[in-house]
Amino acid sequence: MPEKTPAVELHEVAYAYPDGTKALVDVSLVIQPEERVALLGPNGAGKSTLMLHLNGILRPSAGHVRVCGLELADETVREARQRVGLVFQDPDDQLFMTTVYDDVAFGPMNAGCTPEETDHRVHQALHAVGLVEVASKSGHHLSFGQRKRIALATVLAMQPDVLVLDEPTSNLDPRARRHMVELLSTLMSTLVVATHDMDLAWSLCDRAVVIDHGAVVADGPAHAILRDEVLMAEHGLEVPWAVRLANADCYNQTP
Ligand SMILES: Nc1ncnc2c1ncn2[C@@H]1O[C@H](COP(=O)(O)OP(=O)(O)OP(=O)(O)O)[C@@H](O)[C@H]1O
Ligand SMILES: [Mg+2]
Repeated sequence: MPEKTPAVELHEVAYAYPDGTKALVDVSLVIQPEERVALLGPNGAGKSTLMLHLNGILRPSAGHVRVCGLELADETVREARQRVGLVFQDPDDQLFMTTVYDDVAFGPMNAGCTPEETDHRVHQALHAVGLVEVASKSGHHLSFGQRKRIALATVLAMQPDVLVLDEPTSNLDPRARRHMVELLSTLMSTLVVATHDMDLAWSLCDRAVVIDHGAVVADGPAHAILRDEVLMAEHGLEVPWAVRLANADCYNQTP
């Protein structure tokens, strides 16, 4: 059987910001189609920097990035951005049009979709995030959690093969968080999720990659990585509540 083209390939990627900060050091990572990967690590580890490489917003100082078989370069970046959808941590970095409808329509229209196809995609994406009713409103008049879901809709409307989400549940109230987790778990695309929400990583992802000081320090099945208390503590992380509660149950059981 022919091998599948990886969804994401980073080969010895290094990146330094213009001020000299070395944010990524020799990162190699291969993500297969339909994998759901949690990207974990303390503040400043390099998670967001890595994500910005996946659709060419940042280019490596050394090494190579390929997405869906495309080597990221000036000639491929437009197509790469249609294949890889990046949802920023802050929705206000993603929403800039007068209405929610226009924000969600912006991507498909620019990608050359007909007005009918664009309209169809906008409704599909808004339906997926449960916010069809706010289509004509201004994004600025929505709550933070709603804006976060609209930011996701702008990317879903592009029907990307790979969905890259930076902190999708941060600053959401428990109900909005639950909606977001449920929504993400229904998506069929390859997922790369940077998160400090260990329970999200536990329930959503089949693989976890831990980065610290710009380098990959662990990579394996999410349930094995996430229950490793020593590894988690070493990198400023915690085991998920699901694991803590299961451990507590074990101790509490009377013989
Ligand atoms: N524009 C920038 N200029 C200079 N240094 C930067 C810039 N953006 C990020 N950095 C630095 O690069 C490193 C990696 O930052 P990055 O934002 O990728 O971390 P992160 O893992 O996403 O952290 P967090 O969990 O806080 O979101 C940090 O040392 C950070 O201070
Ligand atoms: Mg970040």
